[in-house]
Amino acid sequence: MPFRLLVPFGLLCALLPLHHGAPGPDGTAPDPAHYRARVKAMFYHAYDSYLENAFPYDELRPLTCDGHDTWGSFSLTLIDALDTLLILGNVSEFQRVVEVLQDNVDFDIDVNASVFETNIRVVGGLLSAHLLSKRAGVEVEAGWPCSGPLLRMAEEAARKLLPAFQTPTGMPYGTVNLLHGVNPGETPVTCTAGIGTFIVEFATLSSLTGDPVFEDVARVALMRLWESRSDIGLVGNHIDVLTGKWVAQDAGIGAGVDSYFEYLVKGAILLQDKKLMAMFLEYNKAIRNYTRFDDWYLWVQMYKGTVSMPVFQSLEAYWPGLQTLIGDIDNAMRTFLNYYTVWKQFGGLPEFYNIPQGYTVEKREGYPLRPELIESAMYLYRATGDPTLLELGRDAVESIEKISKVECGFATKDHSGCSVENGLEGLRMRAMSHPERTQAGKTEINSGYRHVKTKCVSK
Ligand SMILES: *[C@@H]1O[C@H](CO)[C@@H](O)[C@H](O)[C@H]1NC(C)=O
Ligand SMILES: *[C@@H]1O[C@H](CO)[C@@H](O)[C@H](O)[C@H]1NC(C)=O
Ligand SMILES: *[C@@H]1O[C@H](CO)[C@@H](O)[C@H](O)[C@H]1NC(C)=O
Repeated sequence: MPFRLLVPFGLLCALLPLHHGAPGPDGTAPDPAHYRARVKAMFYHAYDSYLENAFPYDELRPLTCDGHDTWGSFSLTLIDALDTLLILGNVSEFQRVVEVLQDNVDFDIDVNASVFETNIRVVGGLLSAHLLSKRAGVEVEAGWPCSGPLLRMAEEAARKLLPAFQTPTGMPYGTVNLLHGVNPGETPVTCTAGIGTFIVEFATLSSLTGDPVFEDVARVALMRLWESRSDIGLVGNHIDVLTGKWVAQDAGIGAGVDSYFEYLVKGAILLQDKKLMAMFLEYNKAIRNYTRFDDWYLWVQMYKGTVSMPVFQSLEAYWPGLQTLIGDIDNAMRTFLNYYTVWKQFGGLPEFYNIPQGYTVEKREGYPLRPELIESAMYLYRATGDPTLLELGRDAVESIEKISKVECGFATKDHSGCSVENGLEGLRMRAMSHPERTQAGKTEINSGYRHVKTKCVSK
């Protein structure tokens, strides 16, 4: 399951303007104004292609220039794009899209939805749009931010997910039917990230609606995962939510686990919650002790600590950003540079990379336009001002345009240049579909995550 989070183009925009003439590898300074304009043009190339060819479907298929529903039937790309529109200064389009979503999106539909994706993209995207709407010039209703149409939509979507949490362990199923609840015979096996990636949106929702149920279920799921760690302090990849037994026992920082760690740290910062941070720091010790080799992170058996897979996955590139958020800058930079070396070798991050052998795992070499390394570069640059990080920003723009731009958007290609993927792994327009970021908005991204200050009372 692809578990990646956040942020391609919006953050590049926020990153590049800070550049003050750092030299490129060939001694020339990339011009920030030039890259700012390029990133903007890239966004509109994708966004306008979506509007022309794919709306009202969830996503654009850039090769066939048409659209299809992927995670539901929510015009998901519009929700993904909202905060980026504001960052790019397009308030009129933001306002138009808010109207369109209010008129068109319906969650009373017979769709089997991913609980994880629906949370991070739909609930998260609507919450951030809600919190940003005043700044975007939308006429907000009395009582905002404790009320508003987008908040009601986010709450409605989140309520559709709650039946998934009704399990003996409190850990959620991975899929729920938006109309009927959990399907009979639904698999009880959920990946770790699918259990531990709710606290940011759900705690925000509880603060804004005054209903504690969302934060409560998210916290119970986090506690159950914590209690399920092995004696050596690691968690596996998939667990049975009915029995609490680990089904996949590979421990690592990548696919299937990644955003669990990310949400412990970002949740700790957003909520100023020492318990969440303490959990992460304990995991961090075990991860460094058992999975780290030369500033690479491998997969190990969660009970024994023995190496099970010596691969790097592109999804893991969020880790230097997380290390930066906890102030571990030196380690973050070393790991970032490992990953950046791979990027330079392939002109993008391959999905899987065999670390000891230095080649990509067969059939997995395409760069699926994932934003993780770019996000890490952004955090590290904020912390260090090191110009190497701007070079990654420049390289990302150049590679994405070169390897993936097609007439109707951006698509994934493999490195033989032969086959190109149409669809889901195409452009990730979701910019910052997370309230803690977009609450912060463009300028405050500087200071990282803001705290949730608003507490609303239940109506
Ligand atoms: C906002 O976005 C719409 C749709 O792409 C576009 O037509 C319009 O020109 C944009 N406005 C600004 C100010 O960028
Ligand atoms: C949802 O999943 C259930 C169980 O697998 C299946 O019976 C049902 O047809 C699916 N519904 C839709 C709309 O795909
Ligand atoms: C690190 O691993 C060793 C075994 O290799 C173990 O004895 C030690 O307790 C571990 N320390 C931590 C902090 O996990």
